[in-house]
Order: sequence, then C-alpha cells, then structure tokens
Amino acid sequence: MKPVLVSPRLLFLGPDKYAGPWGAAFAELAPQIAFEVYRPGQDLSGYPYCLTWKPPHGLWPQMKDLRVVFSLAAGVDRLLNDPSFPRDVPLVRMVEPELTRGMVEYVLWQCLFHHRRVWELEAAQSCGEWRPHTYPAPWDRSIGIMGLGELGAAAAAKLVEFGFKVRGWSRSPKTLAGVQCFTGREQLPEFLSGTEILVCLLPLTPETRGILDAKLFAHLPQGASLINAARGGHLVEADLIPALQSGRIAAATLDVFETEPLPKSHPFWDAERVYITPHNASDTSPRSAAWRIAAQIARHEAGQQLEDVVDRPRGY
Ligand code: NDP
Ligand code: OXD
Repeated sequence: MKPVLVSPRLLFLGPDKYAGPWGAAFAELAPQIAFEVYRPGQDLSGYPYCLTWKPPHGLWPQMKDLRVVFSLAAGVDRLLNDPSFPRDVPLVRMVEPELTRGMVEYVLWQCLFHHRRVWELEAAQSCGEWRPHTYPAPWDRSIGIMGLGELGAAAAAKLVEFGFKVRGWSRSPKTLAGVQCFTGREQLPEFLSGTEILVCLLPLTPETRGILDAKLFAHLPQGASLINAARGGHLVEADLIPALQSGRIAAATLDVFETEPLPKSHPFWDAERVYITPHNASDTSPRSAAWRIAAQIARHEAGQQLEDVVDRPRGY
C-alpha cells in the first residue's frame, strides 16, 4: 500500500493584515504546507505548527497538538513574557536573509547619518547659513555594536567593509574579522569608552532590560550617538533627555519604544536631535521566510534538529 501523504498544518496566528502576504508566499513557495489563518472561536486542536506574532490572548492552552511555534519576529520577548506560553514546545525565532539585509541597511544608514552629524547641517539650514562642517574619515570613527548575533554580526561586517573602526559586545567571546570584540559585563565599560556611535541590537531579556541608562551613558565619550533598533525596553527613556541636554549624548535614533505606537504626548516627539522611526528598521519578508519555515517543518517531520530554537533559560 502507498503511504498517505498528509500536508503538515500550519496555523497563522498573527495580525490579520499580514495573513494575505503570508498565505500567498506559502501558496507559491511551499504549497506542501497546509497554511491556515486563525478564525476566532475555531477548534485549535490538530495543529502541530503555528506561526505567530502578538497572538490573541488565552489561546495557547487550547493548542493541544502543538509541536513547534515559529515566531514572525526575531525578538521573542513578547511571547516569552506570556505566562500561558507553552514551556515544553520548541520556539523558533525568525532568521531570514531579507530581515538581516534590512537591518544592515538601517544600521549603515543611521551610522552614516550620525557620522556626518546631519543635525549640524539641519541647524545651519534652518537659519539659512552656508556652514561647511568637518567630520573624520570612517577609519577615525568608532562604532560599537551591542549584540553580535545574526543581525549585529552582519551589521558589523558591513561597517568594517565601509572602513569604520568597529567594536562589538556580546555575552560569549567572538572572533569577527575586523571587529574588536568585548565580552560580558566586566568588559562593558572598556567597550563603551571607545564607542562614538553606539548601536543596540541585543535581545530583550531580564539581563538586558534597561541596559541603556544614565550609568551606561556615563561610560561613553562626551557627544556620542545612540541608535536603538532592538527593543524599547532596553532604554530607560527618562535618562535619555537629560543625557542629550548635558551633551553626553549628541543625538539618538530610536526605532523601538516601551509603548508602541509611541503615544502622541511622548516627549521624544519634540526632543531635539531625537530621530524616530516606527519600529520598521527591518521587516520579515514572507517570501524569503516561507521556504525557510517549510524547510524547518520538513526537518522536524524527518526527526532532524530544528535551527534557531530559542534557549529558554537564556531568553533569546
Ligand atoms: P541573536 O539572538 O542572533 O543575537 C543576540 C546577540 O546579543 C548575541 O550576540 C548575544 O550574545 C547578545 N546578547 C544577548 N544577551 C546578552 C547579554 N546579557 N550581554 C551581552 N550580550 C548579549 O539576535 P538577532 O541578532 O537576530 O536580533 C537581535 C534583536 O534585534 C532581536 O531580539 C529583536 O529584539 C531586535 N530586532 C529589531 C527589529 C526592528 O525592526 N527594530 C527587527 C529584528 C530584530 P551571544 O552571541 O554571546 O549569545
Ligand atoms: C523584531 C522583528 O523582532 O521585526 O522586531 O523581527
């Protein structure tokens, strides 16, 4: 008798506006997967796989047959903070080439913006003054990246290629071509003291929450720049404006915030030399992610190890 082939069922538990593009990507690139979009009130048994971001509250206990959860985002802090999120089901975070490419582009764009101190040109233009300013060559500008994972390491490599002096900080020791690497809390002050443009690409965990605070800013050279493209919870928001006013921080680009969308009344909207982007430093591309998820499902069905599984005790 021929074996009956059953399409693995993948439930999409994400915002409605993303369901169309994801459905189209799976239909075109991975039609072997039975991609289904969650409908409120439906029976949630019988789904071994789920693709999710910001799921409606209280659904996890109903997903009795769940074997793997795929996160639509690289950062899984929101999922892990839900006490009802299953502890014994592997959680795979998003790693895909378009997400990485987008973040590299964002980091390069913003590092060049801060390297050229564009706010000085804005100030001159606002009073109609022709005021050429000087700036160092990239090899005399030092950029420090907090987090040397999938995104941080790729951004560092691009900045090295561009000629910048690049340093990075991570939890475990790293060797990356052209990057001066620092490890752990004990090397954090040394990493910061030589960083003129600080880029945060850390995951949000209990260890990293609030890491961008006045104490950390005090280790940076006077007039450093800050770029936070990781999570709003990394920054102690109340510490930034005093650091800008004292000149410790010259300017900041923020893509992520404790509350998103950033409330209209938030002081960051009107703060001088604070540049805001609406949590879209980079976005997951359904087309480039669908085949990766399908490959992971095939691997899991064949009894092989999944990749990019979140280490629960570490939180990322
Ligand atoms: P990875 O898990 O690949 O890398 C995380 C890096 O942070 C690793 O180098 C890790 O060190 C380091 N790290 C973690 N904890 C600590 C710590 N306590 N001290 C020092 N270093 C630490 O993550 P990604 O690069 O894929 O993503 C990073 C974050 O970027 C995501 O978690 C998400 O929050 C954010 N993000 C934001 C987007 C946006 O549009 N704004 C888009 C995508 C992601 P080690 O290597 O030693 O483990
Ligand atoms: C994120 C993402 O983690 O968009 O912010 O992947």
